[in-house]
Amino acid sequence: MVEGLEILLDREGIEATVARIAEEIDERHEDGVVLAAVLRGSVPFLADLVRAMSVRPVIDFLAITPYAPGTGRVRLLKDLDIDITDRDVVVVEDIVDTGLNSAFVHGELSRREPRSLSFCTLVDRRARRVVPIELAHVGIEIPDRFVIGYGLDHEGRYRNLRVLAAADPEILAADPDAYVEALYPA
Ligand code: IMP
Ligand code: MG
Repeated sequence: MVEGLEILLDREGIEATVARIAEEIDERHEDGVVLAAVLRGSVPFLADLVRAMSVRPVIDFLAITPYAPGTGRVRLLKDLDIDITDRDVVVVEDIVDTGLNSAFVHGELSRREPRSLSFCTLVDRRARRVVPIELAHVGIEIPDRFVIGYGLDHEGRYRNLRVLAAADPEILAADPDAYVEALYPA
């Protein structure tokens, strides 16, 4: 294995995790649910999740972007297309880290008076939480490690990996392609 690389969820682990969360959502939302996915890291997770669910989801997307790097303040870059008033909404995230993004999304969407609003994340790194956020569905809780794969990127790379891996951010900073050879078999 390459230095600093550790597989946290392999393909089977991802499949089992997605199946469990799909079941949790099915149980809570028998009448169907709006899945509001936060672009772009949640896309692989969302795609697998909807196909593992039994209840009928409506899928929509939003995107947020920082005002200025390092400020922690964000704004809506792309809004949902549908009206969520009186709907049951589950926000789908790739990772909740400081919680700033999720707290912003929570504020934005709760103003629209959905019937219910809850959060689902593939990865929960609560060691770094700045803003408290209640997570109804968590795929995996991880320690303070940088992760790539299954939607999560470093400078746009590694999103399409079928595994979730912890990687060394210093190695990535020196060479963004450092893990390409190890993770993308020829
Ligand atoms: P938060 O507002 O700090 O919770 O930010 C979460 C967002 O930062 C995620 O939606 C990701 O886009 C990005 N992010 C945070 N940690 C990681 C990581 O370990 N790998 C890749 N992206 C990350
Ligand atoms: Mg993201």
